[in-house]
Amino acid sequence: MDALERALTEPGLRPLPPDAAAILREVGAPPRLAAHLRAVHDVAAQLLDWLAGAAPELAVDRAAVLFGAATHDIGKALHPHELSGPGHEHEEAGARMLRRHGPLARFAATHARWDRPDATPEELLVTLADKVWKGRRETGLEERVAALLGGAPWEAYMVLDDELTRIADGAEARLAFQARHPI
Ligand SMILES: [Fe+2]
Repeated sequence: MDALERALTEPGLRPLPPDAAAILREVGAPPRLAAHLRAVHDVAAQLLDWLAGAAPELAVDRAAVLFGAATHDIGKALHPHELSGPGHEHEEAGARMLRRHGPLARFAATHARWDRPDATPEELLVTLADKVWKGRRETGLEERVAALLGGAPWEAYMVLDDELTRIADGAEARLAFQARHPI
């Protein structure tokens, strides 16, 4: 089994949606990128499961969030230096690579720009997963996600904070998972 296949199939985190895994194989993604996408996708799935109980009336496109989390950094297959350093070239590049997936390509372009007023709930959730997978907290982003829950803002924020604290507890294991796979 090659290194990409190991990153896609190693137990410990949920498997990526098959269409997302197929794209990673097609572009020969760096194993480290596949491992990162599995970590963010796993956290996105945890957030969605929690949200289904916390705000059952909120209509979120679950498949879109999972696909977005599983592909948001796909452009780093073309800009691998952005796997280990800063850079934004992967964003538009990723959206171009996913063009044939229509609106699902948008997560690649928007995951670093959650502060746009027109960011959708699905985009906010992908970006939140891309922070909290490694235990990073971002108050402004979290306030926008809390607002989706409805009710008193401070109460919604506290409920979300509990869940994010629980998810952040797993950050070390996810970081170790990602680091095991070569760039
Ligand atoms: Fe990411």
